[in-house]
Amino acid sequence: MARDVKIKVEKVCKIFGKTPQEAMAKVQAGMSKTDLLAQTSHVLGLNDISLEIERGELFVIMGLSGSGKSTLIRHFNRLIEPTAGRILVDGQDILTLNDTELRDFRRRKVSMVFQRFALLPHKTVLENVRLGLILDGMDKAQADRRSMEQIELVGLQGFENSYPGQLSGGMQQRVGLARALATDAEILLMDEAFSALDPLIRNDMQTQLKQIQARLHKTIVFITHDLDEALFLGDHIAILKDGELRQIGTGAEILLAPADDYVARFVRDVNRARIVTCGAIADPAVQGGPSEVASDSFLEQAFAILAQTEGAVTVRHADGSIAGGLTRQAAFAALAHT
Ligand SMILES: Nc1ncnc2c1ncn2[C@@H]1O[C@H](COP(=O)(O)OP(=O)(O)O)[C@@H](O)[C@H]1O
Ligand SMILES: [Mg+2]
Repeated sequence: MARDVKIKVEKVCKIFGKTPQEAMAKVQAGMSKTDLLAQTSHVLGLNDISLEIERGELFVIMGLSGSGKSTLIRHFNRLIEPTAGRILVDGQDILTLNDTELRDFRRRKVSMVFQRFALLPHKTVLENVRLGLILDGMDKAQADRRSMEQIELVGLQGFENSYPGQLSGGMQQRVGLARALATDAEILLMDEAFSALDPLIRNDMQTQLKQIQARLHKTIVFITHDLDEALFLGDHIAILKDGELRQIGTGAEILLAPADDYVARFVRDVNRARIVTCGAIADPAVQGGPSEVASDSFLEQAFAILAQTEGAVTVRHADGSIAGGLTRQAAFAALAHT
């Protein structure tokens, strides 16, 4: 099947400084980020990045602080323009958009969820969510209707008249998410959107984002420096280091076949129970008992049932067919480091 590409990044370089083109020639000749900074006071933000993001997927960009994640995602709505290379959205080179087209593109095609929520403190939840719609000229009744739908979608019904200060961090981020969803943009950019949240709330938000994604089929670009989060959320994951793309693949591909030592060290201590699915380790030769788990559920979700089951648990595909049996032994083997 042909890939349905929503965002295409072609050989993008970004250099911060006074004479980026000159600096880029040095990078192309092989100068490292460290030497470039020391010798020319230019910062290598991104170096020769090419990747494709498919329509309707949740694509994660992952890397440590300073690796270029924010620089990359800001290219997608042209908050940053590349020193070299192109960004195509729906096949269109967004660098060719004029001012009016760009404004339209930012209003309708992409919306962004920020790490620090960026809510207006003196406006209610509803007012915050509908703000973009009102600015966009939608009449108030319609904007309210749309906004209430999004507020319900993120589980905040009943809080629409509360003020941000009355809400927990997790709830405030839900407001940010509802606001981004309200514009009905096809692309959602989320730059470390959950990083400021406490771990438990963060897990809830991750699960909820997946549920919302399953319903709305947006193209979501999600940035994180947290590998567990990346693996839990990402259909595909791109790993950046010092402005370079080290690997791109599914979580399982990256876990099973890390592209280099850097990635291998990165994934060494990952929580495999949240990555490995029951289907991946079910044994077709093993007959399962009456207890069942879904083949696409993560091993973690099968722990309780495995603990209560003496023999094998039956692993069933969504289409009703049986993937095989899953034993405690197989579960432990999958969790063990190789
Ligand atoms: N406006 C800027 N001017 C100079 N350097 C910048 C600018 N923005 C980002 N950088 C540098 O580019 C690199 C990548 O930054 P960033 O994309 O913010 O990383 P991340 O989001 O992964 O933490 C870093 O070395 C950072 O210091
Ligand atoms: Mg950042």
